[in-house]
Amino acid sequence: MSSNRTLMVLPGDGVGPEVVNETLRVVEWLAKNKSITFNVKEGLVGGASYDKYGTPLTDETLADTIEADAVLFGAVGGPKYDGVDFDKRPENGLLRLRKEMDLFANLRPAMVFPALVDASSLKPDIISGLDILILRELTGGIYFAEPRGIEEVSSKVKKGYDTNLYTTPEIERIGRVAFDLAKARNGKVTSVEKANVMMSGVLWREVMTNLHIKEGNGIDMHHMYADNCAMQLVRDPKQFDVIVTDNLFGDILSDCAAMLTGSLGMLPSASLGSVDKNTGKRFAMYEPVHGSAPDIAGKGLANPLAELLSLSMMLRYSFEMKDEADLIDKAVSLALEAGPRTPDIMAHGREKVGTKGMMDIILRKLEELTN
Ligand code: IPM
Ligand code: MG
Repeated sequence: MSSNRTLMVLPGDGVGPEVVNETLRVVEWLAKNKSITFNVKEGLVGGASYDKYGTPLTDETLADTIEADAVLFGAVGGPKYDGVDFDKRPENGLLRLRKEMDLFANLRPAMVFPALVDASSLKPDIISGLDILILRELTGGIYFAEPRGIEEVSSKVKKGYDTNLYTTPEIERIGRVAFDLAKARNGKVTSVEKANVMMSGVLWREVMTNLHIKEGNGIDMHHMYADNCAMQLVRDPKQFDVIVTDNLFGDILSDCAAMLTGSLGMLPSASLGSVDKNTGKRFAMYEPVHGSAPDIAGKGLANPLAELLSLSMMLRYSFEMKDEADLIDKAVSLALEAGPRTPDIMAHGREKVGTKGMMDIILRKLEELTN
């Protein structure tokens, strides 16, 4: 079906293609049942691209991706590529996409579905009803800043180093997103750095404080050191609403937050750029927080729900299709209440189901909800 919306699909490696293919069944369902159509274009990224072209992202695929209205991403990486040159590693395909599209705002919601309270390793009263959002700065900091390298100091000694660097505008723009998101939620922002040790942290805190005075009307903002934040996330996660932090701390804290919800297999994410003043267009990529999971890749066992919930975030943030996004979220919630589950969220007495079986259930729930 021809459409005025182009969706670039980058399944990548490991379980990426499995969960993406199942999620595309819901894209088809939307076309058939809701007349919501996309021109779906597919490309290779990560190891899959390296195997074919010797690079984790070709310029052609990057150009197609930049042209699309939204990107649905799977996962990249795997032990097979451990020996590959650093700049040709699968992860570099993902990092280049983030950088080239300037996807500076990474939204990683951590929500506990009522039916999954028991799947978490934390006590039910600590996590039931949890709904927090980690906002990770995604195009700056130690992931990209120069200088970085490995150099020889003497014949026996080398040094490896990275730079953590943030500028005022970089901190301000992610801070603004944090305030906007908090306004639509519970109005609380926790800004996380290590201003007790790092100069980039001192600046981060100073800029956030000034931004809050100028633009944070109605926002309840707190500062917290990253190590304390990790501890608070497992001690009392419900104290948070929006956590805004840098690239590296956001990477680590979001994995931690993910496990509060029971499984990394449930967590979606959105990576957004800024809105182009002339065209109104905003680059956006949607991907599950889980990686390529090489241990279960190719076995049809991966939980497809994080990818599906990423599609739901795409409908919500890129296409303003709130009703359809709500519909998908509802179908997920219902599917979890009773019936079979994938191994990562397995519970006593439930039947086990694989990637495809889980999506069969979702499609049935979508039918039930719309008929
Ligand atoms: C993530 C991943 C990536 C990151 C890897 C695959 C490069 O861990 O999206 O959290 O470190 O950002
Ligand atoms: Mg990570």
